[in-house]
Amino acid sequence: MSIDSENDLVALKRIGKIVALALQAMSASVRPGMTTAQLDAIGGAVLRKHGAHSGPKLAYDFPGYTCISINDESAHGVPGGRVIRAGDLVNIDVSAELGGYYADTGATVAVLPVSPLKHKLCASTKAALDRAIKVAQAGKPINVIGQAIEAEAERAGFTIIENLSGHGVGRSVHEEPRGVLNYYDDRDDRILTKGLVVAVEPFLSTHADHVVTGGDGWTLKTPDGSLTAQYEHTIVVTNGRPIIITEI
Ligand code: CO
Ligand code: CO
Repeated sequence: MSIDSENDLVALKRIGKIVALALQAMSASVRPGMTTAQLDAIGGAVLRKHGAHSGPKLAYDFPGYTCISINDESAHGVPGGRVIRAGDLVNIDVSAELGGYYADTGATVAVLPVSPLKHKLCASTKAALDRAIKVAQAGKPINVIGQAIEAEAERAGFTIIENLSGHGVGRSVHEEPRGVLNYYDDRDDRILTKGLVVAVEPFLSTHADHVVTGGDGWTLKTPDGSLTAQYEHTIVVTNGRPIIITEI
């Protein structure tokens, strides 16, 4: 969607704060020995407390409130009986709806102790998100986002999961503009416009450049077991720095 009133912005910020609170509560609760279903319940409780509804449940009948993806799983991991262990990279993705508005956020939590490589993968993916947000400005091509992410991945020596991308958001979980790529594509001539609401979400990996669907029909994972990390914010494009909707 594109914001065209103060009401739109207020409503979007409201759901943005709720998904951020859910992500924060879940991130702070991650412990070795807990199951991903227990972690998901914490996020579900935050959404419920604020009257919000899980985005993936509404849109896709997803079997969980949030998506929890571990190590070589990049996205859409189904919460369940899997036990979180020390050294895991736990990606938590929270999207939700309130009053017809949607916001989407995500982060990867390293369960200590982790290897220097895992730590670097998380730090670099977070840096890629920050770099992309910094350059997303009205009037510039959409592909400045992918360009910034690619520059960070190259600097750090990581690969980009090319078949996962950012997307428009606001009136539904996934909407126009679709395919906000995490790499530079010079054929993409779409322009960022003032008020446009976009979820920016780089996925970096130690080796893989794509994900495949796992046996449960939901989980997207690297074909070779390579580790991945993702961080995500919903932003509103402006003539200057974007407004980050999913920051507390
Ligand atoms: Co998300
Ligand atoms: Co998203």
